Amino acid sequence: MELKDIKGKRALVTGGTKGIGKAIADELAEAGATVIVSARTKPENTAHHFIAADLTDAGQTATLAQKIEDAFGGIDILINNVGGLTTPGGGHSTLTDAHWQQELDLNLISAIRLDRILLPQMIKQKSGVIIHISSVAGKQALWNLNLAYAVSKAALNSYSKALATELADKGVRVLTVSPGATRTEPMVKFLNDYATSAGITPEEGMKQLMAQTGGIPMGRMAEPEEVAHLVHFLVSPSAAYLTGTIYAIDGGSLPTVG
Ligand SMILES: NC(=O)c1ccc[n+]([C@@H]2O[C@H](COP(=O)([O-])OP(=O)(O)OC[C@H]3O[C@@H](n4cnc5c(N)ncnc54)[C@H](OP(=O)(O)O)[C@@H]3O)[C@@H](O)[C@H]2O)c1
Repeated sequence: MELKDIKGKRALVTGGTKGIGKAIADELAEAGATVIVSARTKPENTAHHFIAADLTDAGQTATLAQKIEDAFGGIDILINNVGGLTTPGGGHSTLTDAHWQQELDLNLISAIRLDRILLPQMIKQKSGVIIHISSVAGKQALWNLNLAYAVSKAALNSYSKALATELADKGVRVLTVSPGATRTEPMVKFLNDYATSAGITPEEGMKQLMAQTGGIPMGRMAEPEEVAHLVHFLVSPSAAYLTGTIYAIDGGSLPTVG
């Protein structure tokens, strides 16, 4: 099956300079979309339009949206990809109010705020697709490793579902993509740090960590490009009847059906 066309669509990929975001930006551009990427730091090389913004900052987020409006007249596809695990493990007693706020700002509020600013134009044009990049952690928190991150992604899942329902008759689709372990810089660093502190190899570290979630049945991490293929399908008109759903892309690691 050939995917239906996204040629000429304007796509914003937040955090589109590295990892999963970069793979999504590259794939959408390859498919003919006009791609804008944003991040805090300008990359040395990017094939896409770049606008700097820290999306945990309300003012910088508003400026990003204004620059897009001025240069492109709005967008058709929004990939809310910014996020990550930034707080320490160790469970509830190690996490301060500041840790919780930091994780919520990065993984939840940044997307809610950007959606709110960009949605009026999508609603006006009666079309648009929003993808929230969540995580399998949003359905399976590991208390000793990623508690605040997992809770912020669970909230993102819930918000995304409600937003999809609100917008379903306005021509705007909203979907959630939840990767499992994916080979990006922070994931590789996390594994290396874990292995070093446990005095084991990164491969053994990966096995130990995955054992806590029941393992990855496919026996490997995802590549960022594999997540990008799924996102490409979801934003294309081939997925016109999909909204409000969560897609895990995890090599089978989530142990539950729902
Ligand atoms: N990798 C995994 O195993 C995995 C698994 C499940 C879910 N995810 C999710 O997938 C998404 C991408 O993860 P990744 O591993 O690809 O991360 P990554 O390689 O670290 O890339 C993160 C991107 O976001 C940008 N960014 C970070 N903080 C930002 C901020 N405050 N404002 C604006 N841009 C910011 C970074 O650029 P600058 O640093 O220059 O700002 C970079 O472009 C995240 O939402 C993460 O939670 C990842």
